[in-house]
Amino acid sequence: MLASPGGVVGGGIRQLAGRPLRRSLLILLWLCMVYGVFHLVVRDGGGSGGGGGNSGDRVGGAAAASLRLNAILSGGGSYDVELLSPSSSSSSSQSTGSVVGGHSISNKLISSSIGGSGEGKHFQNLDSAISSAIAAGGGGLSSLSPPSSGGPASSMSTSTTTLTSILKNLVEDEPLVDKETRTIEELILEAAGTIRNIPLPPYILGGIKDGPKFYKNSSCARFPTIYDLEFSNSYWQTLRTSNGTLHLYGAYYDVRTRNRLGPSVRILGMMDRIEPNVSSYCQLWFEHEKEPVFAKVLEYKYIWFSKWGNYKQGVFQPYLLACQIPKTHHKKVPRSISIVEKPCHGANNNLRVLYDRPPEKKGFAVCVKGLDFLHEDLSVRLVEWIELLGLLGADKIFFYELAVHPNITKVLRYFQSTGQIDVTPLTLPGGQPNDPRIRHIYLGKKVNHKRQNEVIPYNDCLYRNLYQYEYIALLDIDEVIMPMKGSSWKELMVAVDAKARQSRNDSRASYNFRNIYFMDDMMHGHDWFQGMPRYMHMLQHVYRSRNYTKPGQYVKCFHNPERVITLHNHFPLACLNGSCTSFPVPTEFAQLQHYRATCVKALKNCDKEYKANSVLDTTIWRYKDALISRVTHVLKTLGFIPSSTQQPQQQSTPDVDLSLAILNKR
Ligand SMILES: *[C@@H]1O[C@H](CO)[C@@H](O)[C@H](O)[C@H]1NC(C)=O
Ligand SMILES: *[C@@H]1O[C@H](CO)[C@@H](O)[C@H](O)[C@H]1NC(C)=O
Ligand SMILES: *[C@@H]1O[C@H](CO)[C@@H](O)[C@H](O)[C@H]1NC(C)=O
Ligand SMILES: *[C@@H]1O[C@H](CO)[C@@H](O)[C@H](O)[C@H]1NC(C)=O
Ligand SMILES: *[C@@H]1O[C@H](CO)[C@@H](O)[C@H](O)[C@H]1NC(C)=O
Ligand SMILES: *[C@@H]1O[C@H](CO)[C@@H](O)[C@H](O)[C@H]1NC(C)=O
Ligand SMILES: *[C@@H]1O[C@H](CO)[C@@H](O)[C@H](O)[C@H]1NC(C)=O
Repeated sequence: MLASPGGVVGGGIRQLAGRPLRRSLLILLWLCMVYGVFHLVVRDGGGSGGGGGNSGDRVGGAAAASLRLNAILSGGGSYDVELLSPSSSSSSSQSTGSVVGGHSISNKLISSSIGGSGEGKHFQNLDSAISSAIAAGGGGLSSLSPPSSGGPASSMSTSTTTLTSILKNLVEDEPLVDKETRTIEELILEAAGTIRNIPLPPYILGGIKDGPKFYKNSSCARFPTIYDLEFSNSYWQTLRTSNGTLHLYGAYYDVRTRNRLGPSVRILGMMDRIEPNVSSYCQLWFEHEKEPVFAKVLEYKYIWFSKWGNYKQGVFQPYLLACQIPKTHHKKVPRSISIVEKPCHGANNNLRVLYDRPPEKKGFAVCVKGLDFLHEDLSVRLVEWIELLGLLGADKIFFYELAVHPNITKVLRYFQSTGQIDVTPLTLPGGQPNDPRIRHIYLGKKVNHKRQNEVIPYNDCLYRNLYQYEYIALLDIDEVIMPMKGSSWKELMVAVDAKARQSRNDSRASYNFRNIYFMDDMMHGHDWFQGMPRYMHMLQHVYRSRNYTKPGQYVKCFHNPERVITLHNHFPLACLNGSCTSFPVPTEFAQLQHYRATCVKALKNCDKEYKANSVLDTTIWRYKDALISRVTHVLKTLGFIPSSTQQPQQQSTPDVDLSLAILNKR
């Protein structure tokens, strides 16, 4: 009877409820649900920090519970084991009612067992479990089924005994819950891995011996502990002033030799004001000093040009603030900093001052603005890009992450584990949308807002790495600075530096590379090059436009962190020691290869000037062998291509003879 294909629980309850045997079977079913649900509740509780990431576990728990249920009921006929799984609701229209019914029962049980106390009771043995369930569920069931004449308790006792033995093992199982706990300090430390601006414990908890406390007395400049901070969208700390709100993203120690301010702290953030004229102060907190040191905020350096648009009060604008460290503390690095409107104010922000100066600099860091590819699976292209940059000489690529496709997440986690990349989660400050979908629409529609928000990760990346790399490049994942002379960025920059010094014997703030498009449709539909996998987009796209975009247009740079103060996507906006100098690197040295479907919208004459005039440019093939081997290794490791495939090159046997295609093109 239970084997009937239709739903049993939901609509079935009403018809079955009157008959004692069926009724007890129903209660059994229900107990199983209690067990299954408990299983879920406990698992969920254990991993409560994980948010959405837990869904895998959850389904696993439900599946396990349903399987056991199936085993128990196997004597009574087959049963829809999907019944308890929330995701099964669409599996068949017939069972939808059952699922809904099952759900409402489970929910009642959860609330009756969890409800008042706030914590789930753990049943010691099956008998008490059953009696509790009957006691708790009696009301629940009666609300679902019409009252019946037969006394449920008496007719149930015999079947209950048999059930007891069947279910015994099940109850004695030790559920696989996570029993690990965390201290407050461990929690903060863990959070600081992604919220990079919070100071570390125990310092940020205050109260440590010799730690910062107050200036003069308890009503002036109290040290903000973790409990005093006002956050905005997880990664920003807030200062509300009498004229505008600041959301602070990071603070950095600047002791560069060309810095005319001398030892100072720069603070990156966004404020909903243009030309802010509110005066404010830094409270500089030093380790082992009880009182902060005060300094006036010297400047709000605007990281934008008014002519670019969005020059409006009320819109969040990017700024770099600066405070000089008083002479008395020149030799010390502040541990953290708070910004306040009046020196004695108790701050609601406390930013860790970042300062990381290894004994020696590495060569090249690449910074990538917040990735926003929720439904665009660029995972395989990303693998090719990361590995190519590695071959060219990128020591590390710093990604910021808004939201990405799960496959991209897989790629990012892999390269984090190899140390090739670093990933920092990112949000937009203030009232801007942060639901990944709404944010994506918002950034797509409001391009100036998007550009103004991008400035933050770019400059954070610069200042985090101020003392660690010779050069910093801001690239998108469809851009490659390709050396034409020398095979690596290092050799390239030795040559470029020498060339630049011919006109003026000094380093420059930046070195810019001409933009050239490699467009998708320059490759006619079905042509593939032999000897390299089709999934390697850049290796397969070797036709580019003949013309470079105009000098200075859409360029990208290697920035010299010894000289720049603020960066924008294409150029430095402000530099130490006067005006910014950018050396235009001749195209014989290198070019910025830009892989796109088509030209950027703003570019006129795309079809006539750029698409119609294409030439073959196979410079990238110099890296072919190493690149193919690296990329396929990663793709196999991550399961993007079957690891049994011995030679991926073989897969890419072209449909047409490519040597011919090349000839025709020319
Ligand atoms: C605390 O110190 C501030 C600054 O020196 C002073 O203005 C204020 O009166 C003091 N308050 C108390 C309660 O001593
Ligand atoms: C707030 O600051 C803006 C400049 O950023 C100024 O135009 C405005 O008058 C100020 N408002 C008040 C109340 O001070
Ligand atoms: C800011 O600007 C407003 C209007 O111009 C002015 O009233 C106010 O005094 C200014 N505030 C400061 C601190 O300069
Ligand atoms: C360039 O300047 C450096 C010192 O800054 C000096 O040692 C070198 O000789 C100069 N080179 C030329 C060609 O003037
Ligand atoms: C682009 O290339 C075409 C053909 O080579 C040439 O006629 C044209 O002047 C070029 N345009 C620019 C802006 O360089
Ligand atoms: C820039 O620095 C050089 C020395 O490196 C100095 O001679 C020059 O005066 C500085 N220029 C400005 C505008 O400060
Ligand atoms: C990539 O995403 C698709 C769609 O979610 C999925 O089917 C596929 O298994 C994913 N690839 C890898 C390697 O995880």
